[in-house]
Amino acid sequence: MATFTLPKNSKIQKNGKVHKADGGKRVKSFKVYRYDPDTGKNPRYDKFEIDLDECGPMVLDALFKIKNETDPTLTFRRSCREGICGSCAMNMNGKNGLACTTAIEDLKGDVQITPLPHMDVIKDLVPDFTHFYAQYASIQPWLQTVSTTPSGKERLQTPQQREQLDGLYECILCACCSTSCPSYWWNSDKFLGPAILLQAYRWLADSRDEMTGERLDQLEDPFRLYRCHTIMNCANVCPKGLSPAKAIAETKKMMAERAI
Ligand code: SF4
Ligand code: SF4
Ligand code: FES
Repeated sequence: MATFTLPKNSKIQKNGKVHKADGGKRVKSFKVYRYDPDTGKNPRYDKFEIDLDECGPMVLDALFKIKNETDPTLTFRRSCREGICGSCAMNMNGKNGLACTTAIEDLKGDVQITPLPHMDVIKDLVPDFTHFYAQYASIQPWLQTVSTTPSGKERLQTPQQREQLDGLYECILCACCSTSCPSYWWNSDKFLGPAILLQAYRWLADSRDEMTGERLDQLEDPFRLYRCHTIMNCANVCPKGLSPAKAIAETKKMMAERAI
């Protein structure tokens, strides 16, 4: 039987710090993953108790409270605080999501916060997106045409053609889906994963794009597209309510149709 072990430096130490609340009626504990490569130490969980009466309603509010009032070294990404930029994606009580749109009251018991799973960690809750962005660049995510641009006009779409982009253009590239996909965990070196495949389909579905054949050629590979086994974790976690699995299925359909 195969046995799996964690790399030595990723094993969690048991010496996390505990920061108690100064009283309060609605105290909740947040167990936060901490890792600082500069110390040479293994990761640990620090526990922060927060009085919810003194904190905003979202997980991102709790992280700000910890950073501003208890431990300024806590590191996490955020920008818009309204579910638009995708930068606060992390794992909360075992489920990927956006910290700014996840209500604390929806998380039962102590809240455990870790970086997105199966990505290298730069520091604390900040994962390394280098590979993810390289995969995004590989699908050439921009409009490509060969015909002459209509003079003085944009390339127009009918309302029906525009509708084909609904459920695709809303993607904020947060990677919640890709990092909850078991196929992506094990094959992320070759499988593009749900987020990038949804983006790839966004250009396949665009009536103005004239590189459909080339785009399909680029995906025609045993790994890039076909490692999706329709497990559906991606659609279950997407904070924008999108279904990468559906986009992948549509892409497979286009592949099949052109082969006939
Ligand atoms: S449906 Fe495909 S892409 Fe989505 S989680 Fe499952 S294997 Fe991954
Ligand atoms: S499909 Fe959803 S979960 Fe995946 S990257 Fe886009 S917004 Fe995030
Ligand atoms: S801070 Fe932008 S999505 Fe959460």
